[in-house]
Amino acid sequence: MFLDAEEEKILEGEYGETRRQMMEILVALGTVYGAERLIPIRSAQVSGASYKTIGEWGLKWLQSLDARVVVPTVLNPIGMPREQWQELGISEAFASRQNDVLEAYRNLGVKLACTCTPYYLQEVRYGDHLAWAESSAVAYANSVIGARTNREGGPGALAAAIVGKTPFYGLHIVENRRPQVVVDLTRLEIRPEQYGALGYVVGRKVGNRIPLFLGIRPTRDQLKALGAAMAATGAVALFHVDRITPEARVFRYAPDGLDALTVDSDELAALYAEIEVDAVAVGCPHCSADELQAVARLLSGRQVKKPFFVFSSRGVIQANPEAVMAIERTGARVYADTCMVVSPGMERYAAIMVNSGKALAYVPDMCGAVARLGTLEECVEAATT
Ligand code: F3S
Repeated sequence: MFLDAEEEKILEGEYGETRRQMMEILVALGTVYGAERLIPIRSAQVSGASYKTIGEWGLKWLQSLDARVVVPTVLNPIGMPREQWQELGISEAFASRQNDVLEAYRNLGVKLACTCTPYYLQEVRYGDHLAWAESSAVAYANSVIGARTNREGGPGALAAAIVGKTPFYGLHIVENRRPQVVVDLTRLEIRPEQYGALGYVVGRKVGNRIPLFLGIRPTRDQLKALGAAMAATGAVALFHVDRITPEARVFRYAPDGLDALTVDSDELAALYAEIEVDAVAVGCPHCSADELQAVARLLSGRQVKKPFFVFSSRGVIQANPEAVMAIERTGARVYADTCMVVSPGMERYAAIMVNSGKALAYVPDMCGAVARLGTLEECVEAATT
């Protein structure tokens, strides 16, 4: 892989041991994936933030690093809300280690936004090269915005943030962004709340290929739900929707010979099993302002009878105080910084109702709970009756 003079100096350790290690990670990644060079990035998003997922080894590694990021860099959700961790039943021991993780990232210059929806908080433009790690954020940045990022691992994203560059391969190269499979939904009647379920089903069918959808007209929030679920049950990092997503026009006429698949309404309906739940959680990925307002509207005039958790980012929560107050007046709780999957607080429940295809995929393994999928209306109904 070609390195310029400055990059060579970093690799030789002239700018310190941490930068040398970070450059070594980038060169190793670039070599494995056949990159010819590094390219500058506009921002990074780093995963490996919850103490639940990185543990003591990850914390010690972060504490050993001595450098600062050189591009705007935000952190993925951590294992607890920073202020109300006791409400979620988090132990003092966990909270203390989680705070150590936060401190380690703060020392590296990472912004502690702690969200999987950084695109609500910072400007990301079509064609920007990024090094983002969280799979739903990667799918959104690539597909909905038309930015360019591979699905980075935590160390790869942090290395890119500290060096300010990433290896030029994969989805950074326009030619690699062509659709690889057509998902023809022209005969499917899909309800607005079913995009998470659709992503769950399609992700299993397409694996890591790039799908081009025909016959749907999702909103941005629905695209978010679709991409997050496909990234969870498959490994989709980019998808196109004909006449909707920005690059669909570039690749509108798919080459002959692409596989085509479809989904029928029975496959979606089969995911909505009716089981008793003891908690309800929404906000996977973190709620947008519109989604917070929708929760507030649906809860209006009701009181929750089961724990009802709403997850969003600190920035979106602070910008929507009326919606948050309206939700919390009903007894539901709105939390920043964390999510239903990476917080040990959700492990107290045996069955959790969610409105997210991604959460449906991850809650069983990550929380040890049965997951039930419902629409947002059904989630509110289950929590309030
Ligand atoms: Fe975000 Fe957690 Fe879901 S990181 S996408 S809310 S699993």
